Amino acid sequence: MARRYFISGGAGFIGSNYVYRLIRRGENVTVYDNLSRAGAPRNIAWLEETFGKGAFKLIAGDVRNADLLRESAQYADVIVHLAGQVAVTTSVTNPREDFEANALGTFNALEAARLSDKNPIFIYSSTNKVYGSMDDVEIIEEATRWCYKDLIKGCPETPINMCAIMHAFMGCVLLSSVRVVSMALDNLASKTKAGWHG
Ligand SMILES: NC(=O)c1ccc[n+]([C@@H]2O[C@H](COP(=O)([O-])OP(=O)(O)OC[C@H]3O[C@@H](n4cnc5c(N)ncnc54)[C@H](O)[C@@H]3O)[C@@H](O)[C@H]2O)c1
Repeated sequence: MARRYFISGGAGFIGSNYVYRLIRRGENVTVYDNLSRAGAPRNIAWLEETFGKGAFKLIAGDVRNADLLRESAQYADVIVHLAGQVAVTTSVTNPREDFEANALGTFNALEAARLSDKNPIFIYSSTNKVYGSMDDVEIIEEATRWCYKDLIKGCPETPINMCAIMHAFMGCVLLSSVRVVSMALDNLASKTKAGWHG
């Protein structure tokens, strides 16, 4: 049975590619995005051209709007939080906007999950920076993706691993009552021919 996915930032680079896969898989998708990123409207147009206008629901909303976010996500089985202000330059020139979109926006998304009756799974995009430099880990290029040569199941979250420390910290502070999956992403370069725009 199709699950209800709520994707904040679903019009962005990662979000639109994820939405593409979810729709192809037959899931029920709601995109929540303020369309502030230059390429976001084109990514939405690409999804609509590919699947048709009714293939997913689009809510032009801001993650800083806690009430609208909560209301929009209330029926989701899975909340995927990918919305964010990603430009380092903006974080320097307008740190308040950066903080509100990223810190408060993430808090609002977590609150939407915590207050939902559906007990949704919460997935968010972390960063590879939580693993440190990883200079000693070899990466190989395969036909459709980059992989760790020896860590075929990904990075272990052993106690000496920085990632585990970050996850433990986040788990204690923020996520005590929400099922959370964190994806630590390196800079991504899609090998698909999809027409996404960042
Ligand atoms: N692309 C990468 O390689 C990479 C690597 C590590 C982590 N990440 C993280 O993954 C997330 C998504 O990255 P991306 O590359 O898809 O970025 P992106 O800029 O393409 O997508 C972000 C989306 O969020 C939307 N958005 C921005 N502010 C918003 C707000 N206040 N309310 C609602 N929507 C808002 C934008 O319109 C855009 O569609 C970010 O948190 C980013 O830091 C990305």
